Amino acid sequence: MTTGISLAPAEGKLGILLVGLGAVSTTTIAGVLAIRKGLAKPIGSLTEMGTVRLGKRTENRTPTIREFVPLAELNDIVFGGWDIFEDNCYEAAKHAGVLDEKLLDQVKDELAAIKPMAAVFDRHYVKRLDGPNVKKGKNKKDLADQLIADIRKFKADNNCSRVVLIWAGSTEIFLTESACHKSIAAFEKGLVDNDPAISPSQIYAYAAISEGLPYGNAAPNLSAEVPALRELAAKTGSPITGNDMKTGQTLIKTIIAPGLKARLIGVAGWYSTNILGNRDGEVLDDPESFKSKEESKKGALDYIFQPHLYPDLYKDISHVVRINYYPPRGDNKEGWDNIDIFGWLGYPMQLKINFLCRDSILAAPIVLDVALFLDLSKRAGFSGIQEWLSFYFKSPMHAPEVYPEHDLFIQLMKLKNTLRYMRGEELITHLGREYYD
Ligand SMILES: NC(=O)c1ccc[n+]([C@@H]2O[C@H](COP(=O)([O-])OP(=O)(O)OC[C@H]3O[C@@H](n4cnc5c(N)ncnc54)[C@H](O)[C@@H]3O)[C@@H](O)[C@H]2O)c1
Repeated sequence: MTTGISLAPAEGKLGILLVGLGAVSTTTIAGVLAIRKGLAKPIGSLTEMGTVRLGKRTENRTPTIREFVPLAELNDIVFGGWDIFEDNCYEAAKHAGVLDEKLLDQVKDELAAIKPMAAVFDRHYVKRLDGPNVKKGKNKKDLADQLIADIRKFKADNNCSRVVLIWAGSTEIFLTESACHKSIAAFEKGLVDNDPAISPSQIYAYAAISEGLPYGNAAPNLSAEVPALRELAAKTGSPITGNDMKTGQTLIKTIIAPGLKARLIGVAGWYSTNILGNRDGEVLDDPESFKSKEESKKGALDYIFQPHLYPDLYKDISHVVRINYYPPRGDNKEGWDNIDIFGWLGYPMQLKINFLCRDSILAAPIVLDVALFLDLSKRAGFSGIQEWLSFYFKSPMHAPEVYPEHDLFIQLMKLKNTLRYMRGEELITHLGREYYD
């Protein structure tokens, strides 16, 4: 056994600042408040319900993750955030229509007390939205400075010892890395010059990372993975993670695909379609925002199937992803997958999956876990990309020289081994020869 690394305790209050107080954020906040009151259980959350096996199977040591590593207590969390709408979190949660009013009313006072700070927003990056609660500034640098002032004020007003920031705002248009993303100096010049390659989400990421805060991106748009922000994260000691939480259809994809691959079952095509009626669906109805989502959703299969290693099985997969905005469904998405597979001697078969899911119900425990694990990373002295949190994302941030790991089961092993590593426990390889020697 190694000695582990020094982990600062989770003392004092943890501020969780959310950019965008929409369906995902309000479901997370209302959920944590309800769980604190004993009204519901934190289903789906590893930090609240997960366990980690330690040592040999014969040792019977399986503490909860929370017992094993020091995580912030739910009672010590303070929420805040920004939105372009002025609704407080109670009104926003009612508008989102995810949780029923009976539950919301039981946490109404605390929810209503959370009022959005004015946002950094520009319609160029999210075409289908507009709202009144937006900051004005002489350039993007000035806007970033205003966000930094907001963060410091929130921390002081709420007596927080630590703060984490998560982008849970609408999906922005598809952007690629540009010259201003290459270095801190180029990025800071871009902020002053209002470079169009710097989106609002990157202004928030810059503000958070400048302050040494952990930063997570729940959406698919380009964010903190650009070299300039990675360089800044290394300098300020910020752990960063993202992108795009792995919830409905992609979660199922990364559960099914590794199974097919493990048994060397071929895949000729994978057709995925969804209907979705919430504001996220409306934003994604814009082709430029959809492009960000599409790129993020399509990546997973290529990496899981490794067609370059298995050309006979996966070389020519026809992978199609559609999202259709359909208001009657609200947040209750319905997804259909048709998977054309083939087996022994090439004989074709089909697999059909019809998933009636609730998007924000699947997303809320991820936001909580990512916030708590990022705070743990910071206390462990980790900075830069936290690949061990890939488990939560559709397009996991990764070092430029390696491919991202998409297989949910490998991702979970990586996450739990990182926790074991922090504590100096033996890493689990699943070799198991010792039981038979
Ligand atoms: N629900 C899921 O399962 C899921 C999964 C993966 C990713 N996501 C992503 O998470 C994000 C949030 O999803 P949602 O369902 O809560 O959407 P939503 O539309 O309900 O909420 C987004 C909120 O962000 C606000 N916003 C937009 N731009 C902003 C800015 N620049 N500053 C501050 N606020 C801003 C909007 O006004 C809105 O209230 C989306 O990008 C979505 O694609 C959601």
